[in-house]
Amino acid sequence: MNTSVFENYESEVRSYCRHFPTVFTKAKGASFFDEDGRQYIDFFCGAGAVNYGHNNPYIQKKLIEYLESDGIMHALDMYTVPKREFIETFEEKVLKARGLNYKIQFPGPTGTNANEAALKLARKVKGRNIVFALMGAFHGMTLGSLSLTTDKASRKGAGVPLDYVTFIPAPYMFPELDTVAYMQRLLDDDHSGVEKPAALFLETIQAEGGIQVFDAEWLQAVRKFCDDNDILMVVDEVQVGCCRSGTFFSFERAGIQPDIVTMSKSIGGYGLPFAITLIKPELDIWKPGEHNGTFRGNQLAFVAAKAGIEYMLDEKVEEQVVNKGKIIKAYIEQEILPLDSRLQLRGIGMIWGIEFENIPPVGVADQVIEKCFENGLIIEGAGRKNSVVKLMPPLVIGEEELNKGLAIIKKSVQEVLAAL
Ligand SMILES: Cc1ncc(COP(=O)(O)O)c(C=O)c1O
Repeated sequence: MNTSVFENYESEVRSYCRHFPTVFTKAKGASFFDEDGRQYIDFFCGAGAVNYGHNNPYIQKKLIEYLESDGIMHALDMYTVPKREFIETFEEKVLKARGLNYKIQFPGPTGTNANEAALKLARKVKGRNIVFALMGAFHGMTLGSLSLTTDKASRKGAGVPLDYVTFIPAPYMFPELDTVAYMQRLLDDDHSGVEKPAALFLETIQAEGGIQVFDAEWLQAVRKFCDDNDILMVVDEVQVGCCRSGTFFSFERAGIQPDIVTMSKSIGGYGLPFAITLIKPELDIWKPGEHNGTFRGNQLAFVAAKAGIEYMLDEKVEEQVVNKGKIIKAYIEQEILPLDSRLQLRGIGMIWGIEFENIPPVGVADQVIEKCFENGLIIEGAGRKNSVVKLMPPLVIGEEELNKGLAIIKKSVQEVLAAL
């Protein structure tokens, strides 16, 4: 496999390719194919960008029809038919169906763009510059989002101080600490040294943070804390939205309504760059053009995003996630955890993490990921010191392929543990 052109000419910043050193050609459903014709099962899912499967045939057909019709491809934020149809579908079939009421902002096309918009707007609405974020959070790599992101390696790349964020311990870090009472104390105590924030940013499941699932009661307490203190609750659904947790929005399990919601990745339906920032109508105080950009509202992605919602509803993807989530959990509990009593499991829906932190030396999870690749499975790591093997297959994966992928993880864990 010749990878020299990448090694010679592509920037050293490249990352995922270092774990999967082959050259890919095609992908379908939950499988990748490389130049040698080797097939890999995909438990990585474009970091959550292809929940409805690679080259999903329903969405593909809509895209081909649109391309062949000479549909407009670039229109900045001008009014277009694909934008109208996406907005109508999203408002009717996703928001109203759940009793939610948001206006939709189209920022630039990536997750970090959606969070930058949310951050700017929250500060503008509340007239405060501090925001709260949780330790273990990942919200993106541009300066504003990076200031909310906690991992040292990413922050180091900033080159300037990342300011105006107060980090709050995530609830799993100190189980004996009531983090909501802690935040209240920070605000009430005139000697805390902490300023009142405009907003609290959080993921309801910290994905890059190591598959840390926050329970419904805690999320409800956070909602109340935000209401009581006039603070906006911003929920980042970039990775765990679009049914990953078993409901379209991951916050639905708590019955709460955030003030601002950010989405990207699978909202683009087909792996196309697309992001949205959902805003409670009374917070939409943007002036025209105040947050601008050339690639807001990619037309092809509007087509794919609308088709993605239709597909998700027709194929009852939420139900599929609940059922396949049970298969994943049962398999890991019965077949993988017994391989070593130091292994732990966390997750919900179809996002699961096998924790290797208690098995020395540092890097065992990385070895498992490498071994999985050798054995024909694409899977990634997460968490502190990358100690978690993160399972995130496309939501539409067939049960046979799912079981094959799980069996590869078991075999790979066995091989790595045997060689320690
Ligand atoms: C929760 C969360 N927010 C934001 C982002 C940033 O998204 P993007 O890489 O598209 O900028 C990510 C990326 O993994 C994410 O997981």
